[in-house]
Amino acid sequence: MVSHAGLRDSSMPDLHHKLLPRVSPKHAPNVLVLGGTTEAGALAQALAASSIRACYSYAGRVQTPRPQPLPTRVGGFGGVAGLVRYLANERITHLIDATHPFAARMSANAIVAARQAGVPLIALTRPAWTAQAGDRWQTVADMPSAVAALGGAPRRVLLALGRMHLAEFAAQPQHHYVLRLVDPPAAPIPLPDHHVVVDRGPFDVAGDLALLQRHRIELVVSKNAGGEGASAKLAAARQLGVPVLMVQRPILPARTEVHEVDAVLAWLGHGATLGVARGV
Ligand SMILES: NC(=O)c1ccc[n+]([C@@H]2O[C@H](COP(=O)([O-])OP(=O)(O)OC[C@H]3O[C@@H](n4cnc5c(N)ncnc54)[C@H](OP(=O)(O)O)[C@@H]3O)[C@@H](O)[C@H]2O)c1
Repeated sequence: MVSHAGLRDSSMPDLHHKLLPRVSPKHAPNVLVLGGTTEAGALAQALAASSIRACYSYAGRVQTPRPQPLPTRVGGFGGVAGLVRYLANERITHLIDATHPFAARMSANAIVAARQAGVPLIALTRPAWTAQAGDRWQTVADMPSAVAALGGAPRRVLLALGRMHLAEFAAQPQHHYVLRLVDPPAAPIPLPDHHVVVDRGPFDVAGDLALLQRHRIELVVSKNAGGEGASAKLAAARQLGVPVLMVQRPILPARTEVHEVDAVLAWLGHGATLGVARGV
């Protein structure tokens, strides 16, 4: 059985047939996966194992992207118009947005381009994290609000945000910032007092406990990314009683959204391959 528990639309039973594109053997899918996440990697494994024709797309943000078991392309498409062109030129039949929940521009572009190109779109996402007993979270709507919330006396802050937003925190220069980045910084960091840790997830709780203790972290700033790979810092903060400034996800226009690889395969008309992604 196919579970659609992850679908965002509560009227799912009525939409069921509309959401499943009918794919005859003559019209086998030719899929474009917008990637850059653990979930996209699991999907790539499942597509490859199911012999579904697909291409995996990276933005090109990190120096050495993880190899994928699919043909891979790297770099932006050139906005909505570029993506529409790409979908047509490559005769893409299905678009899967498996990007990070904070990759809002790519996701918004995908919604518009898919509509313009007449290509069905589904998003593979992970549920947001929710606070548990013992958590000391302060939730803020966006990055400017996170920066504003950092006013006051100097603290030792773990900025677990990647490199894209560092410049915004220059508005609060009084803190000692510990930055965890995938690659060594290519440009000077605009924060007067910082320490860079180069590391790539998934992270574990023991490692993140050690990180928080070693750097005497007093506050963790985190995006609400969801998923397993980056949640260790939250468990570590909970154990140590360290507060977390949690940045909410950007809000996107409505789209078909699932949380499981199996649901994407079913959407592609490959229900027979259900289970292929388990344990990936
Ligand atoms: N944001 C995060 O916190 C975060 C965390 C982990 C991984 N990632 C991954 O890193 C990538 C970039 O994230 P972002 O936040 O910079 O995205 P973004 O702000 O939404 O995207 C900016 C531009 O980068 C290009 N782009 C983004 N994702 C792409 C992809 N998968 N394939 C081809 N082009 C892509 C697009 O350029 P064009 O307009 O030219 O097409 C897009 O308009 C995404 O693939 C995302 O999954 C992001």
